[in-house]
Amino acid sequence: MPALIRSEADNLFGISLKRLVQSADILLAICGQAASELSILLVSDQAIQALNQRYRQKDKPTNVLSFPMRESNDIDDTSIPLGDIVISADTAAREAKRDKTTVQERVTRLLVHGLVHLLGFDHERSDRDHAIMTDKEKELCRQHKQYKGRKQMSQLAINVDHVATLRQARGITEPDPVLAAGICELAGAHGIVVHLREDRRHIQDRDVYLLRQTVKSKLNLEMGAAPEIIGIALDIKPDMITLVPEKRQELTTEGGLNVSRQQKKIAGVIKQMSKADIPVSLFIDPDPRQVKASLEVGATFVEIHTGRYCDAVSEEAADKEFDLVASAAEMAYGLGLKVNAGHGLNYLTTARVAALDTIEELSIGHAIMARALFVGLDQAVREMRAIVINAAR
Ligand code: PXP
Repeated sequence: MPALIRSEADNLFGISLKRLVQSADILLAICGQAASELSILLVSDQAIQALNQRYRQKDKPTNVLSFPMRESNDIDDTSIPLGDIVISADTAAREAKRDKTTVQERVTRLLVHGLVHLLGFDHERSDRDHAIMTDKEKELCRQHKQYKGRKQMSQLAINVDHVATLRQARGITEPDPVLAAGICELAGAHGIVVHLREDRRHIQDRDVYLLRQTVKSKLNLEMGAAPEIIGIALDIKPDMITLVPEKRQELTTEGGLNVSRQQKKIAGVIKQMSKADIPVSLFIDPDPRQVKASLEVGATFVEIHTGRYCDAVSEEAADKEFDLVASAAEMAYGLGLKVNAGHGLNYLTTARVAALDTIEELSIGHAIMARALFVGLDQAVREMRAIVINAAR
C-alpha cells in the first residue's frame, strides 16, 4: 500500500490515522511519488527514545525519525519503497500545545519533515542544506493546504470480476479473485467491487463470503435486484451495494438503470438495505431524469455510467459525452447524493473523470486486469492509482 500507517502509541491524543494517511497520499502525489510505498508508525516517547538511542546515539525522545530505503543515486526510483517515518505522538502532543495548534496539524508537519528527509534532504549537513530543506518543507505545506482545500481525492475501487472470469473458463480454483483483491488492496486500492450475477458466470457465492471476511478497505457488491441476490447481500452485509440492470445475454453491464421506470421496485430494495445499514448506489446513465429519480427513491449514491465517454471514437464525441458525465455528476452532487463513476475507464480516459470535484469513487475493472496480464497486478493498480491521485492536483 503506498502509504501504510500503524500505531503502537499508548495515547493517540485524537490523531485521526485516516486523515494522516490521506495527507501522506496527497504529499506523495505532490512530490511525484504517488506510486511509492511509505510506511508511517506512531509510537510513544519511550519507543522513539529507544530508536533514537540505537540509530543516533541520542538517549532522549525526539519528535520524528526517518529511515530511508533508497540510496542517493536511486532517490527517484518509485519501485523501491521510500522508507519508514516514525513519529512520537507524545512529543507531537507537547509540541502542538507549545505551538498552539492541533495535534493533527503538528503530526502532519512532522510527517512533512520526515518525508523531506526520505527524499534526500538533510538539514544537519550544513547551514545551506538547512535553508534548502526548510524551504522545501514550507513549499510542501503550502501545496498540501491548497490541495486539501481544492478537492477530495477520488478513490479507486477495483472490480476483480475478470479474475473470476478466467477461473471459470477452466472450471478450476485459480486464479482466485479473493487473492487478487488482497493484492489490489496492498497496492493501494481504496475499495473492491464484485458483481454477483444471477447466472454466476464469474463471481461465485464463495467469493463474496470470503471477500466479506478478507477485504479491509471497502466491499461494494454490484448486483441486480433479484430476490436471491438481495438475500445474499443482506446476509454478508457489504459496505455498500450498487444496483445495476442485469441481462442474461450481455457481455458486461450495458446501460444504466431506468430508475424512473421502476421506482417502486428500487425504492423497495433501498428500504430493505437501509434496515441493514447498507448504503445503496444506483448505476445510471448521465441523464438528469435518472439523477432526479435516484434522489426520489432514496439512494445514497449514484454511479454515473462513463461507458459512452470511454467508447467515443472521436475527440469531439468524447468531449460531448464527458460533458454529460460532468453535468450529471454536478447535479447529483448538488442534490446531496454521493457520486461514483465507472465503466470502460482506462489508463487514458480516467484522469479527466477523476479530476472532477464531484466524484467520490471510480470503479474500474477491465483496463486494470488487462494491463495486469503484462505488468503484474500490483504494478497495474499502482499506475491507475497514481493517475487517480494526480488528477486531483
Ligand atoms: N461499474 C459498473 C456498474 C459495472 O457494471 C462495471 C463492469 O462490471 C464497472 C463499473 C467496471 O467496468 P470496467 O470493467 O469496464 O472497468
